[in-house]
Amino acid sequence: MYKIAPSILAANILNLGKEITDLDKAGADYFHIDIMDGNYVPNLTFGPEIVKKAKKITKKTLDVHLMIKNVEKFIPIFSKSGADIISFHPEAVNNTKKIIKLIKKHKVKAGLAIHPNVKVSDISKYLNLIDIVVVMTVVPGFAGQKFMKNQIKKISFLKKYKENNNLNFDIEIDGGINYKTANICKKEGANILVAGSFIYGSKNKNYKKIIKKLKK
Ligand code: DX5
Ligand code: ZN
Repeated sequence: MYKIAPSILAANILNLGKEITDLDKAGADYFHIDIMDGNYVPNLTFGPEIVKKAKKITKKTLDVHLMIKNVEKFIPIFSKSGADIISFHPEAVNNTKKIIKLIKKHKVKAGLAIHPNVKVSDISKYLNLIDIVVVMTVVPGFAGQKFMKNQIKKISFLKKYKENNNLNFDIEIDGGINYKTANICKKEGANILVAGSFIYGSKNKNYKKIIKKLKK
């Protein structure tokens, strides 16, 4: 029932092919691909080519998280590269509805990512239009940060909103996930967990065991 999405931001990029296939075999459900432009966030990461190459080596869902300002320009590009889900930050764009429609036009699932400074009530008017909400539990930009407990109430808000309005978007949590924070998020109503450092930075590299335990 729960899905685990390893974030390749924390992988050994010089060995990315193996980092993806190992996790694929270990039971990862999605691959979370963080796209940063050095503008919406202070960091730079991957471009569409990584998505294209990942698509060739795994059949798992490619979950593209755009932390960029020029969202509109890149939707057709990431769609063609093989993204299955594209999430973006609404405060980075002028017309959120238009962008959601554009993603759907490309037959890709549309998601909204909520920055810790953004109120969940500010995006509730879009919840009937999207497939997934990404609740950020760290400030976007880097892997390996501490889980922000003060974001937890957004998860329960979304769960209630979903039930009350008969909607079925997924609730994904992104940032600082480990066994303890995973349990908190699952209890509050999340069904997809992104995990970067906790998986790729683990000492034992027993990916199968880690995924299984995160899902439990
Ligand atoms: C942060 C990214 C996250 C990050 C998660 O800007 O959106 O997806 O890779 O990494 P961990 O699990 O290490 O917090
Ligand atoms: Zn992310």
